Amino acid sequence: MRWTDAQRTMLREMGLRLWLPGTDAAAAEPAAGPSSRVAGVGALADPVPTPLSVKAVVVAPKPAAVAAAVDSPRPAAAEATLALDWPALRAAVASCQACGLGASRRQTVFGVGHPRAHCMVVGEAPGEQEDASGEPFVGESGQLLDRMLRALGLSRAPAVPGGAAGEAADPARQVFIANTLKCRPPRNRNPTPLELSTCQPFLERQVALVQPRVILAMGRFAVQSLLGSEEPIGKLRGRLHTWRGVPVVVTYHPAYLLRQPADKARAWDDLCLAASCLDTVPG
Ligand code: URA
Repeated sequence: MRWTDAQRTMLREMGLRLWLPGTDAAAAEPAAGPSSRVAGVGALADPVPTPLSVKAVVVAPKPAAVAAAVDSPRPAAAEATLALDWPALRAAVASCQACGLGASRRQTVFGVGHPRAHCMVVGEAPGEQEDASGEPFVGESGQLLDRMLRALGLSRAPAVPGGAAGEAADPARQVFIANTLKCRPPRNRNPTPLELSTCQPFLERQVALVQPRVILAMGRFAVQSLLGSEEPIGKLRGRLHTWRGVPVVVTYHPAYLLRQPADKARAWDDLCLAASCLDTVPG
């Protein structure tokens, strides 16, 4: 399969170089900015997502510590969260003081995107810029995430010019982006299991309201929160998992990809797997 000009442009935006069979590496297309050369030619030579039917559905085993945090009986407040509509959920997040992070955050970071997006992205936790802006993934890793999504024809922005981020946009071309934690951990430290489990009902309700056809779980804390697994990303990616009946694709966190650009090719495979769960492959 040959790449179209649009696909070449998109992959360049992701920082991926095309290295086509039979071409000399030195003659491969240059990528703009810091980039990785695509090592697995086969993986990137065919951009058509793998059909869902050929992928195994795997539910990862949960280590005891994570399982205890994720599966323990829900407090009444958590049960109540699972009945909230969007405005009530947003208000509940904004006023939450259920864990210590409420004391140090500047503001909560609820999530952004189409409320019925077919694809939902779950990241880790707000960083400094997100804590300041109130929107997830606005820093450097967010810019990479946007380029990755754009490569699939997806965006967090309303597709209708001038339209509010809402129902007017096409849910097949929009994503909803949320984090496992809605508050920034001080100095960007890792989320604790208790913080993850305390915040989980918010994420769970977001998923229930969005009803995505696929969830892209980015990084180990998204995986811990959704799948209750502490397996490395490299062992979990490449196949479909499920959470509450929703297909989950595990992939690297964009911040990791900025440090390890060679893994962008694998991340592209993961995006293609996620796209295979969508009715219409965006393009
Ligand atoms: N990393 C994340 O996982 N989420 C953000 O919102 C920002 C950086």
